[in-house]
Amino acid sequence: MALDFDIFKPKAQPLFGMDISSSSIKMVELVDAGKGAIRVERYVIEPLPKEAVVDGSIANLEAVEETVGRGWKKLATRTKNVAMALPTAAVITKKIIVPAGLREEELELQVETEANQYIPFALEEVNLDFQVVGPAPSSPEEVEVLIAASRKERVEDRVAVVQAAGLKALVMDVESYAMQAAFDLIKKQFPNDAKDQNIALVDVGANVMNITVLRNEQPVYTREQAFGGNQLTQDIMRQYGMSHEEAEAAKRSGGLPETYDAEVLRPFIENAALEIQRAMQFFFTSTQFNSIEHILLFGGSAAIPGLEEAVSTRTQVNTLIANPFASMAVNPRIQLKKLIADAPSLMIACGLAMRRFDT
Ligand SMILES: Nc1ncnc2c1ncn2[C@@H]1O[C@H](COP(=O)(O)OP(=O)(O)OP(=O)(O)O)[C@@H](O)[C@H]1O
Ligand SMILES: [Mg+2]
Repeated sequence: MALDFDIFKPKAQPLFGMDISSSSIKMVELVDAGKGAIRVERYVIEPLPKEAVVDGSIANLEAVEETVGRGWKKLATRTKNVAMALPTAAVITKKIIVPAGLREEELELQVETEANQYIPFALEEVNLDFQVVGPAPSSPEEVEVLIAASRKERVEDRVAVVQAAGLKALVMDVESYAMQAAFDLIKKQFPNDAKDQNIALVDVGANVMNITVLRNEQPVYTREQAFGGNQLTQDIMRQYGMSHEEAEAAKRSGGLPETYDAEVLRPFIENAALEIQRAMQFFFTSTQFNSIEHILLFGGSAAIPGLEEAVSTRTQVNTLIANPFASMAVNPRIQLKKLIADAPSLMIACGLAMRRFDT
């Protein structure tokens, strides 16, 4: 069996990050700007046709291939190497304990044996990857190994679409890890680097809202629900008799009738804030914790004007919108204002682009 999942292997090769999500494909290329500094070199957000990606699965290979190709041309980079991610729900992870000092082949065998016990598919049907995390907490003679497994077809679909566009899938990561890599760039903005604090990472996308609470770099809670900016788009379509495209454009650029604010936008925002408050209550009742120190909003819908304020008012928690590029230099070709507006939706693509600097 091939252990070719590549979540954990260091890369340090020129590559760019590619986030394939339901509304668009986002590409971000970061480069070394010297003296430990990173520069945002280029990025692209290329919209996907409806239903091309559904629930994190590629439903329309051709449409996604085309979009990847078009996006890459617009990106205008020389590198063809791509770091991608699988949806978190498509990956099973588990920590196991094995004796220390095993040879690579022995370790692989051990991982396969263990994986066999908890993966609900035949091993021929999965891609497996593993990484030795460190000494086991219980005994110095043992080490902790993190295993990640995913259905082969989930990996292969993503590899296929980039290959069809003439590109090379160099890294296959997991969205939750990429998100954490991007959060690492942001955590300096929190007091004491967010140490011993519960930070709610709230991703409001087009169709899905994901809430992950991180504490000392470990996810202590995660919850996903069907809620997102598409609901607002649909409200606009219904209220003003617009097409999907018209409503999407109007949502961003304004120019909607006067009734929009009170009758459409406000109720959506209040609803979103309420959903976030509910998720927090679930977090409190299902864990030992009873506080959240900060809320970090991201995903394309984080940019909806008024959302940040509504969330902070309703939850009484300090809320901010994520900008993973805040500490980076920016290529002068990129419009700074546009980058800041797009930044919340580029979290995962940015986290993937960071794989270039793995050592
Ligand atoms: N400037 C903006 N103002 C308002 N809404 C925006 C803006 N930019 C993007 N959006 C909305 O954000 C959503 C897309 O966000 P994002 O790219 O994070 O979603 P996605 O990851 O593709 O979707 P999902 O996570 O649900 O699969 C769309 O509903 C889009 O209309
Ligand atoms: Mg998303």
